Amino acid sequence: MHAIAKQKSPINSIFEMVVGRHHTNFWLQKINPLWSIHQALGKIIEKNQSAQDTISLTIEVNRHFKMGQAGQHHPVIVEVNGRRYERTYSLTQLDAHRVLLTVKKVAEGIVSQWLTETAQIGDVLEFGQPYGEMLIPKTEQPLVLLAAGSGITPMYSLVKKLAELGHLGQKSVWLMYWVKKNQDAVFKMRFETIAEQYPSFKFDVFYTQENPSDARLNAEYLDQIQSLEKSIVYVCGPSGFVTTAEQLFKKAQQFKSEAFSLTPIISEETGFINVTLTQSNKVVAIPKGQSILLGLEQQNIKPQHGCRMGICNKCACNKAQGSTKNLVNGQENMEPNNLLRICVNSAQTDLVIDI
Ligand code: FES
Repeated sequence: MHAIAKQKSPINSIFEMVVGRHHTNFWLQKINPLWSIHQALGKIIEKNQSAQDTISLTIEVNRHFKMGQAGQHHPVIVEVNGRRYERTYSLTQLDAHRVLLTVKKVAEGIVSQWLTETAQIGDVLEFGQPYGEMLIPKTEQPLVLLAAGSGITPMYSLVKKLAELGHLGQKSVWLMYWVKKNQDAVFKMRFETIAEQYPSFKFDVFYTQENPSDARLNAEYLDQIQSLEKSIVYVCGPSGFVTTAEQLFKKAQQFKSEAFSLTPIISEETGFINVTLTQSNKVVAIPKGQSILLGLEQQNIKPQHGCRMGICNKCACNKAQGSTKNLVNGQENMEPNNLLRICVNSAQTDLVIDI
């Protein structure tokens, strides 16, 4: 592992004072791409195809990298054609210095296309602080994990960690995983191996576009879960999948979900809404039916944001007045002085927000 020493050397400190942080990093990275005085960086050391249109990158990280807990997400920052882009991915810890980043290519996804097609061994990525609430439960209740598509990546970290901690032999864990076709299933053999090792871990994969095909998530799957009222249910997948799960698993003792993409609720709404931005002292008109973040960006306003999925809270601001609609679950909110995540809410009436 090549990383700078934990204590800044006097030479580094003087160099930093004289030439500034940015230039110090620039020159340090000429010597070693992972050297930095403050950035959490990782270098790709292995790239493998893990399913159709999906790659797994093994990444060696430097000492500034803070590994999240199993199930959490990390901002991943890459530079594509001279522009920095931040997206959110769930990483799996391999050992003290290496993590696994699994990415599915998304149509029109600048970062996912760069990571799957262009990124090569030796390329360096930057990471932000981890976040997310889907952590290993501290209790012994049965755990039901539901994943669709790329939603399998936090589940893999959770199952791997549960096995490492020796918890898989003690509690019942059932992982249900929906993909379109056989070639889309990631980590399938690894889950099957774990299931053979631990009888209390059950793994099922459902194919919605094979012949014959399996049903999408519906109430019939619930009937197979014993004592749902005592179970902890975690869900990760596209927003449509998560919304269905939210409706079906109301009786679960604990329910946590994360949607990694917005399947916008079909909206007939047309027209524009005026948004007053109190901090920047502006009023802009944005279209109804789309996220406030996107609407502001189209007006060349760049609010702070991270995941664009309603998980990291980086885009959250105070809504002083107005009505909004959550684009994931359709819930409306008319209360004044409410915390508003502008990446997953649209404006229903004129709004006043503290941006
Ligand atoms: S950008 Fe992460 S919650 Fe909005």
